[in-house]
Amino acid sequence: MKVKIHDLEFEKMIPFEHIEQRTAELGQTISKEYQNSTPIFVGVLNGCFMFTADLLKQVNLPCEVAFMKLSSYRGGLESTRSIREDLDLSVDIQGRHVVLVEDIVDTGNTLRYMVDKLNALNPASIKVCALLYKPEAMEHDIPELQYVGFEIENKFVVGYGLDYKELGRNLKDIYQLVK
Ligand code: IMP
Repeated sequence: MKVKIHDLEFEKMIPFEHIEQRTAELGQTISKEYQNSTPIFVGVLNGCFMFTADLLKQVNLPCEVAFMKLSSYRGGLESTRSIREDLDLSVDIQGRHVVLVEDIVDTGNTLRYMVDKLNALNPASIKVCALLYKPEAMEHDIPELQYVGFEIENKFVVGYGLDYKELGRNLKDIYQLVK
């Protein structure tokens, strides 16, 4: 099935059923690893909203959730190097175990920025859980990236929270750009 968003065409790549199944596995792994603590999940908006909601339903632990808002894409296909902070973290993470929740890691610039920023606030630990990861595009070494839903090719994707020029976030499945 294909969808048109603005001027581009996208085809289905990861059906929701696979996302759901993989998210349940990630939730179980995280629940086991954080068994004796109360982690705080920090979502990076906007793209993470669906994944964070579904992931947390699979986490069987007392836990907190908070959000930050960053923009690194300026509404197109290419990553810009500049990161704008739209909403800061409103909770104190000092001494806390933090799980950073990302929709997608592309060049890793956003993640590098986030991990450095959160590390400066002296958490007990930081690990990253990303639904999608494009290893070919990655420009950084980020050992905190411990939980990955799907490694994907270096193609532009939309759906399940991810957008192309702000549209497509509401699609239930993940779609990739048709060349
Ligand atoms: P990075 O800084 O290059 O790793 O990009 C991270 C951010 O860019 C993500 O949180 C997304 O908001 C956005 N992004 C990266 N790749 C894609 C994509 O394929 N589709 C939609 N947004 C993307």
